Amino acid sequence: MLNFYSSPEINFRKGNEIKIAGDQIRDPVPIGNGDIRVLPLAFESFGVRSMATFVETDDIKIVIDPGSALGPRFHLSPHEREYIALARSRRTILEAARRAEILTVSHYHFDHYVPNFEDWVWLWSSPEIAEDLYRGKTILAKDINSNINASQRKRGYMFQKLNSRTAREIKIADGRSFTFGQTILQFSKPVAHGSPGTELGYLLMLTIRTPRCCLIHASDVQGPIDDETLRMILMEKPDAAIVGGPPIYLAGYKIDESSLTAARNNMVRLVERVPLTVVDHHLLRSLEYRDYLEPVFREAEKRKHRLLTASELVGLEPQLLEARRKELHEREPVAKDWYNRLKKGELKEELIKK
Ligand SMILES: [Fe+2]
Repeated sequence: MLNFYSSPEINFRKGNEIKIAGDQIRDPVPIGNGDIRVLPLAFESFGVRSMATFVETDDIKIVIDPGSALGPRFHLSPHEREYIALARSRRTILEAARRAEILTVSHYHFDHYVPNFEDWVWLWSSPEIAEDLYRGKTILAKDINSNINASQRKRGYMFQKLNSRTAREIKIADGRSFTFGQTILQFSKPVAHGSPGTELGYLLMLTIRTPRCCLIHASDVQGPIDDETLRMILMEKPDAAIVGGPPIYLAGYKIDESSLTAARNNMVRLVERVPLTVVDHHLLRSLEYRDYLEPVFREAEKRKHRLLTASELVGLEPQLLEARRKELHEREPVAKDWYNRLKKGELKEELIKK
């Protein structure tokens, strides 16, 4: 049972090797002709809310969306195992960021960057962690002055204010491209966080391109639901796409059936054209994600294309800890006092070692 629930721990070793829980060694995974190599750092399939991804080419190393978080679900506090996964994800992201020159922030939701305030209950964040993460880095981030909702504008403002001196530089990335040797980082114009017109605001997709290889990271596009977003992804002709799936757990509550159908139809069209699609994030908050993806899997199989979760890309079974929260609390109850100590930050040393 321990194996089943334990989430991967990734440590960078000499060269490109990476150690994952259970002493398995992993390299970043080559995509296309191998000019771009990618390593998922934290995702729902690793037990936390995140799409943090390490990417390297011969020219640069970057971490996309270097945050992770836990969220409210089933009116239950996250289980101890979720906190172990969260602490691990923070360690893994910090370790990956140490190797990278560039960090990117697609939008200012807390599962996509680490804020500067102290919070051990949902975010595993503190001023010290933020400094450790951003110090000396070039940060390419969402503009806070246009195509942004009020809450993200406030967060983005604090992010820039508190980190601009620690970071090497923070640049607005919306619609811009940045060239490093033969590698181009192309940020999309702002696209919808799910449905067009949603109050959740906008985010930037990132295309990483070398002369013969292309990867796109599309964070919270939720499928995508929006046809225009799909068109933009396909226009890049990527060898691989890392895409946030739709939140089917919010069906009939915060998202309507027609949006979920649109997302699925667009994913069918995505895997029809893209050789490797990694789908994760909101969709992997539900154990039924494979049923929902059934027609998408069928299309991928027909085209001999691959459709995987982030964990499966590195050969690990998805660990859907949030989706299993009820079951975890039933099987392994967590004492009330444990949460009091957690809140005060008394468990941070202990959990980060697990
Ligand atoms: Fe997100």
